[in-house]
Amino acid sequence: MKHPTYSTIIIGSGISGLYAALKLANASHNVLLVTKSRLGESNSRYAQGGMTAVVGTNSSDSVQLHVADTLKAGAGLSEFNTVKFVSEQSDAVVRGLLEFGVEFDRGENGELVYTLEGAHSVNRVLHAGGDATGRKIEEALCKIVRERVEVREQTTAVELLVEDDECRGVVIFDGENYETVCASSVILATGGIGQLYKYTTNPAGATGDGIALAYRAGAVLQDMEFVQFHPTALAVGDTRFLISEAVRGEGAKLVNADKEEFMHKYHPQKELAPRDIVTRAIFNEGEVYLDATHLNSEKLKKRFPNIYKKCIEEGIDMSKDLIPVAPAAHYFMGGIKTNLNGETSVKGLFAIGETASNGLHGANRLASNSILECVVCANAVAEHLMSCHFELVSESYHEHVKGETLKQVQGDVRADYSGLQDIMWEHVGVLRSEESLTTAAHELEKLHSDDYELRNMIDVAKIIVRAALARKESRGAHFRTDYPELSEEGLHSVIQEGCHADRILR
Ligand code: SIN
Repeated sequence: MKHPTYSTIIIGSGISGLYAALKLANASHNVLLVTKSRLGESNSRYAQGGMTAVVGTNSSDSVQLHVADTLKAGAGLSEFNTVKFVSEQSDAVVRGLLEFGVEFDRGENGELVYTLEGAHSVNRVLHAGGDATGRKIEEALCKIVRERVEVREQTTAVELLVEDDECRGVVIFDGENYETVCASSVILATGGIGQLYKYTTNPAGATGDGIALAYRAGAVLQDMEFVQFHPTALAVGDTRFLISEAVRGEGAKLVNADKEEFMHKYHPQKELAPRDIVTRAIFNEGEVYLDATHLNSEKLKKRFPNIYKKCIEEGIDMSKDLIPVAPAAHYFMGGIKTNLNGETSVKGLFAIGETASNGLHGANRLASNSILECVVCANAVAEHLMSCHFELVSESYHEHVKGETLKQVQGDVRADYSGLQDIMWEHVGVLRSEESLTTAAHELEKLHSDDYELRNMIDVAKIIVRAALARKESRGAHFRTDYPELSEEGLHSVIQEGCHADRILR
């Protein structure tokens, strides 16, 4: 039996997966893109606010300023070299996106326009379709990917094939059949973990699959305790639609149940303080609303068409009514430890985007740095792979893995995730303590599943709890009520399967 062999398999079809696929396909690499839902359905698609970039035409900005803002938001845990690299690449990747057909919003004279978001010292956030930046970028990239790249949709990556510490491919499952697909390199671009929590801005697919696959394959994970909670999700029912930070960037205020502004009590930058600070302030105040009623109503409708529409559907006219908001799990700073080429600790295995942890975001991501990271790191991994010589995987290896790996995996229908989501929200949320984390650890031990996603979610949840227990300080998005202070050194945490201790390292 013949088995398909690719130079690169990319798992995930968010902006990082799409961009890497296009760059590699343009360089005549034989690429397969696997996505568990339809092409382009991803966390990136729901990014509203925008994409930070230090673009030559923005005279008020500089790499130095962007680096300083990112390091400050990262609360002592961002890596200077990574931050500088990403910032320096931003102008080039914006040009790359424009060449791929992305249409960022422009002013009357055709110039790119920049908005302000939390903890940025200048306006530097590009946007598209008003508040549909992620979707607009994805749509442009998907259009070309469909023409140039082999794609398997509705197909789950079940396990990585690893032998002699080297990743040789993936076992995939299309709902009916399993298949071993071999490749010289595998890129995980599977996005975040928001679905581990009861309240999240993330779509259904954000279940931490890549992190669980990499962990089981022996890869080192980093900073797994750092989950970012977005301060302002629409607090209606159990779903949490994102109300972009850009709404505060345009001047909206936060008010409490007595309709009084309160952010001045928490930070000099008030509504535009770093995200973790605004989140804890809202958590502390309880019932909170976003007030955009003093802003020009025509501008609101034009600048935030999707948010405006969603609010109207919920009976809220944001130009006249207060918007009820609450924090929700939004972004994961932790993930698979990589260098700037996207290399993990397992040879042949790469990770990019939210599933990776390369030290850019530290303990708290600066608003709208995530799409920038996706594109810069996708570009970097593609350039790295274009410069490498890989052996193609042999036919005898295919026969070997078929027997070894397929017997270990089983399928199931979509499981009920609510038990896990309740545990994580209740005990591993905005505020944590030894007591709450120990409770979570015990509760998680009782959960088992043959469902691929739920199994991945349980694995990742347990690792987050271990990492959160090990970090006995409060830093950025990780706030321990029993250790409310920052310890002196900024140290990364690392975890690897088979290691008993969760090491905290520089
Ligand atoms: C937002 O628009 O507030 C979200 C953007 C981000 O997460 O950086």
